[in-house]
Amino acid sequence: MTNNIIKYQALIDGELYENGKWISIINPTTNKTIGEVPALTKVEIEKVYTAAKQSQKSWEQMPILKRITFLNSWKQLIIRDKLIIAQLMTNEIAKATKAACSEIDRTIEYIDYTLQEALRLHPQSYTGESWGIMNKLGIFEYVPKGIVLAISPFNYPVNLSVSKIFPALVTGNSVVFKPATQGSLSGLHLAKLAKEAKLPNGVFNAVSGKGSAIGDSLVENEVINVISFTGSATVGNHISQKSLKADLILELGGKDPAIVLDDADLEDTATKIIKGAFSYSGQRCTAIKRVLVQKAISSKLISILKAKVEKLSIGLPIDNCDITPVIDQPTIVNAKKLIKDALDKGAKCLIGNKFKENLMWPTIIIDVTTKMDLAWEEPFAPLLPIIIFEQVSEAIKIANDSQYGLQASIFTTNINSAMTIASLLEAGSININDQSQRGPDHFPFIGIKDSGLGVQGIRSSLLAFTRPKGIIINWKTKN
Ligand code: NAP
Ligand code: G3H
Repeated sequence: MTNNIIKYQALIDGELYENGKWISIINPTTNKTIGEVPALTKVEIEKVYTAAKQSQKSWEQMPILKRITFLNSWKQLIIRDKLIIAQLMTNEIAKATKAACSEIDRTIEYIDYTLQEALRLHPQSYTGESWGIMNKLGIFEYVPKGIVLAISPFNYPVNLSVSKIFPALVTGNSVVFKPATQGSLSGLHLAKLAKEAKLPNGVFNAVSGKGSAIGDSLVENEVINVISFTGSATVGNHISQKSLKADLILELGGKDPAIVLDDADLEDTATKIIKGAFSYSGQRCTAIKRVLVQKAISSKLISILKAKVEKLSIGLPIDNCDITPVIDQPTIVNAKKLIKDALDKGAKCLIGNKFKENLMWPTIIIDVTTKMDLAWEEPFAPLLPIIIFEQVSEAIKIANDSQYGLQASIFTTNINSAMTIASLLEAGSININDQSQRGPDHFPFIGIKDSGLGVQGIRSSLLAFTRPKGIIINWKTKN
């Protein structure tokens, strides 16, 4: 540490690495540089893939219990450094310290479940009997796909990194990990701990550098077997065009609607909407990003929501405020643009629309219509539009007209309405009487349309990083 600037190194083939070129990590709360990570180049990225390739076979051939021992040692070090990592997260992504600690606790549970579930990935066997072949038995075991490129976003720098890295490693893949630049202090701290846990050289590598500078070199490499990416739809779609022969798992953006019917329990609904829309200042892919409310109860719901927003604390992440600064100024500029467009077209601000540097007060915009960008675009900020509908069919149409299809919520006391609407919504998952959310983490997590490709969730991730390999036994029958 020099002048309070913390420097982290990349991890290449088991060695911590720096090349003399650095990227600054800015604290979104203070706008001051708090750290530096190496700006790697194409040449170094080639070296990383060579290391990952060279190490993969022996890692795959190591007994799974031994792989688990290495991964458990790494986990113990993450537990040991929980407060250090949480502080890094608070400083580099302005996540409240309590929420950062919860993210690490959740991640430890994720690792435990993943390592247990990997032991349950038993081979499947098939006989030829149903095809009239009595002397054939196929045994299909799960083998690793090979080399996994894991690219994570800023908002869950520990959880959304580990949820790619650990399922890939435990199943015998080697990993090249690229954390988001804002989030790379936490990401490279994890890498430092992997070295301390003495993972075999080259099995896990961590690179840093701006996605815009090194992204294409990372993605356009023929040795990659799987790219597991979480981030924006724009970058995800770019990666899908640039990737060569890799399987793709993409977790992208969302515009999750909460549909509130006139028979909903409004107090409970409002509590869940506030949590869904404003946790971590709206910077969650699964945040509720629009409320579609039935006209008869709209005024009542809106006044309960306003009262609840007034109670949210706004300020510093170290004070564990509910609303903390968003990641950067472009996010603020985008939120202001969406608000202006909505107000210009006749919407009204119920509360908020106040800013100080990267801090944005929780904002609810009412009388939003489908003509406004706010009805469709993802702000990734504490900004919630409310759209009123009369017929349920209108709500379903507005929900489905989105480019996204991550999750949706339906609030109603009528299970028949809920199930009927759920069957018509185009989304990966639909939550009845709860906010949209990824967890519990063993549930399959799916995005359709521009929200993603493939399935995550503990067992789904283990399956995504493996393929079946069949050994088919034939024998001579005596007759
Ligand atoms: P982002 O800007 O798309 O960045 C995501 C990752 O991609 C970062 O590591 C970034 O590196 C890297 N990257 C940027 N350009 C690249 C390129 N050309 N090639 C390869 N990698 C590249 O997203 P973000 O701002 O971190 O996260 C916010 C977005 O992620 C939102 O849209 C949110 O909805 C979505 N998200 C989705 C989920 C989900 O599960 N569906 C979860 C979390 C977030 P740099 O940081 O260096 O640019
Ligand atoms: O930001 C995207 C995360 O995958 C959402 O996870 O629903 O647990 O906040 P979460």
